[in-house]
Amino acid sequence: MRIGIYQFAPVFGDREANLRRIESAVTEPVDLLVLPELCTTGYQFVDQKEVYSVAEEVPGGPTTRHLVKLARRINGAVVAGLAEKDDEKIYNTAVVVTPHGYIGKYRKLHLFFEEKEFFLPGNLPLRVWDIGPARIGVMICFDWIFPEVARILALQGADILCLPANLVLPYCQSAMVVRSIENRVFAVVANRIGTETRGGKQPLTFTGKSQVSSPKGNVLLQAPAEGEGFYTVDVDPSQARDKQITSRNHLFQDRRPEYYGLLAQEKAGG
Ligand code: ACM
Repeated sequence: MRIGIYQFAPVFGDREANLRRIESAVTEPVDLLVLPELCTTGYQFVDQKEVYSVAEEVPGGPTTRHLVKLARRINGAVVAGLAEKDDEKIYNTAVVVTPHGYIGKYRKLHLFFEEKEFFLPGNLPLRVWDIGPARIGVMICFDWIFPEVARILALQGADILCLPANLVLPYCQSAMVVRSIENRVFAVVANRIGTETRGGKQPLTFTGKSQVSSPKGNVLLQAPAEGEGFYTVDVDPSQARDKQITSRNHLFQDRRPEYYGLLAQEKAGG
């Protein structure tokens, strides 16, 4: 199957311009297209009112409708980050659509820095979607630093982890290679580029280097740190279903969850 990523710098607050850019950049069919976090709005909001003014319903809003048409044109699934409004509540969400329509959404569980002022933490269970050639799990940006997320998606049967991102720290690309190795899955990081300086705040520069890593930890594709581009790579998702590490080690059967209880305790750690 073919995976595509479009790395770009969204125009702040201009959904239609951003959707037009995505349309003109994605020039060939792919089975799975992953777009950055908040790819229709930009990232550095000044206040909650501003987020609210650009957030939209999922699946009822215009972006989901637009992405379904894009999915039909490219004949593949699309995972894209956007600001979601659900009554008065705002979430940092990724929508999942296929040529057959909307199939679901994921709301970012682990909010980064000022996102805590603008969004509510996600409240939907982690889950996997079957898009035909592969089963995909979705996480968003800072979720990378919580390995529990990737592990749960892998245990649920994800072949490919999709990570829409607006990264400002330099660690995620390396960490997602490790998430690939430790879960024997493909991982797709769709990051943005550019700098935003809004409302007199400290500038945020996004790190690009969108990438795809394989179950054995090979980096199959890495985009440059700067520069817009549509990138594709072919993968064999069945490689992610072989969890046999050696003839005597199975990634999941060798787990010792009876010793992992602390991971699921709410107040663990200091
Ligand atoms: C991030 O979670 N957008 C850094």
